[in-house]
Amino acid sequence: MASGIRTVGVVGLGAMGAGIAQLCLEAGVDTVGREVTAELGEKARDRIAHFLARKVEKGQLAADARDAAVARLSLTTDLSALAGCDLVIEAIVEELAPKQELFTELERICRADAVFATNTSALSVTEIASTISSPERVVGMHFFNPAPLMPLVEIVRAERSSDDAFDAAYAFGEKLGKHPIRCHDTPGFVVNRVLIPLLNDCVRVLDEARVSVEDLDAGMRHGAGWPMGPCELLDLVGIDVHVHASEALWAKLREPRMAAPARLVAMANAGLHGRKSGRGFYTYA
Ligand code: 3HC
Repeated sequence: MASGIRTVGVVGLGAMGAGIAQLCLEAGVDTVGREVTAELGEKARDRIAHFLARKVEKGQLAADARDAAVARLSLTTDLSALAGCDLVIEAIVEELAPKQELFTELERICRADAVFATNTSALSVTEIASTISSPERVVGMHFFNPAPLMPLVEIVRAERSSDDAFDAAYAFGEKLGKHPIRCHDTPGFVVNRVLIPLLNDCVRVLDEARVSVEDLDAGMRHGAGWPMGPCELLDLVGIDVHVHASEALWAKLREPRMAAPARLVAMANAGLHGRKSGRGFYTYA
């Protein structure tokens, strides 16, 4: 099936969706990107073109390969434009109902052998797939932020995923140049099950140890070999995204460490969402 994946649909072109679309384009795959407005679609195209241009400037990509990659992207606001896709990856809002509604629509539009993947980070793939009549075609493909740079993709087997869909998603992860790992549909899968409570612990340490944000980050970079400090990472992921994912894991696992610390909840409520809002733990130009 994966060798047969020639056209991919990406639904939702925010930071993750645009990054996933960029990977598909760079892997030579025709990609149909769907956003709710044409402006949001164009914003994603600009973002992809910007990062590909940087690769050309740095000698990592030939200019004609960049042009060919950008030309492989078509944008739409109309889901029915995804009718010919062999694989559709959704990266829309992290809410169960909109994801279920999307897959119900896609089931009506796409061929019966098209695979559907969700990039959910903390919802259950099984639940997302539960409202369509062909749940066997649904798997998780969980990318990490920033998707073009992080090597990992978790390939998540939901309760009713077929071997064909699972194997196709795994092979497609490899085609994208990623390091796929296989896992089951448990809360947080593998990495977020570990990383989310760990980041929550880091924020609690800020108050408990009366350490500054800068020193905590330096501590984890220089003492634990992290590529970026926990506060820098939370700013990158998005404080709102992290709090939302923490709440989803807390709801499923009821482990106190899963619950977002009050400090993070307050930041999320205040609009201090990190890099994308210009301010989180740090201020961005
Ligand atoms: N998309 C595409 N390209 C990007 C990009 C993006 N979002 N961000 C940066 N780039 C490109 C840029 O062109 C940049 O080059 P430039 O600055 O010269 O233009 C190039 O990548 C390299 O960027 P950096 O110099 O910032 O690269 P670093 O070597 O510093 O590495 C990093 C950056 C890979 C982000 C590294 O710091 C890292 O590994 N950090 C940890 C990230 C992490 O842990 N992510 C997981 C978060 S958890 C998650 O995603 C789960 C989810 O469910 C919430």
